[in-house]
Amino acid sequence: MSQSSPVDPAKDAAARAAVALVQNGMKLGLGTGSTANIFVDRLAERVHAEGMDLICASTSKATAEQARGLGLVVEDLNDIGWLDLTIDGADEVDPDLNLIKGGGAAHLREKIVATASDRMVVVADQGKVVDRLGAFKLPVEVIAFGWKTTRRQIERALERLELADRPVILREKDGQPVITDEGNLILDLDLGQIPDAPQLARALSAIAGVVEHGLFLDICNLAIIGRADGSVVEL
Ligand code: 5RP
Repeated sequence: MSQSSPVDPAKDAAARAAVALVQNGMKLGLGTGSTANIFVDRLAERVHAEGMDLICASTSKATAEQARGLGLVVEDLNDIGWLDLTIDGADEVDPDLNLIKGGGAAHLREKIVATASDRMVVVADQGKVVDRLGAFKLPVEVIAFGWKTTRRQIERALERLELADRPVILREKDGQPVITDEGNLILDLDLGQIPDAPQLARALSAIAGVVEHGLFLDICNLAIIGRADGSVVEL
């Protein structure tokens, strides 16, 4: 195990169930975050126990380091080309399998990897399931150049969508801006509720300076939701 803290039983249950979906010879996308980390741990256990041959693409430097440290083969997505399956966590999952991702600032690579896969499966605990997206602050990755102007453009777009005065917050850690694996910044949109996610996604994608937003619409094929008692449900 690569975690030093105790493993959350709900996340562990979802991760174990997802490992069962992996078949020998697959090209596999590895997600980012605490649940994806547990999945990678469990996957490595199975790969070594069964002598499986897998090629993995990672959604972050952190997961690539974890996976390689556990003896998994991680290659550049450019060299792999296309993936059979990606397993990743999520910050919110709605009943239509639309997601908010990016709590770990990795949603740009996560979306590239997920959309280069035949199937994307989310692993999450029950707390991530929502009726409607938006309580989790929506991450938007933006270019550092002119980011305050980009933030103003985002605020204007929100005004047009009747989401005026919602805070758009530069993500910081230890008093410093968070820098993504691609060298960009994250703006977190505190929306409370998203009335029309496709409309918001289109509006954000149209703004110069926005690299990618954390709305994953019509990308996820299955969500495996773990519960504290170790059971799982599928959405
Ligand atoms: C990273 C992500 C993660 O998948 C998401 O934040 C969920 O993380 P965790 O499993 O730690 O709750 O989108 O960008």
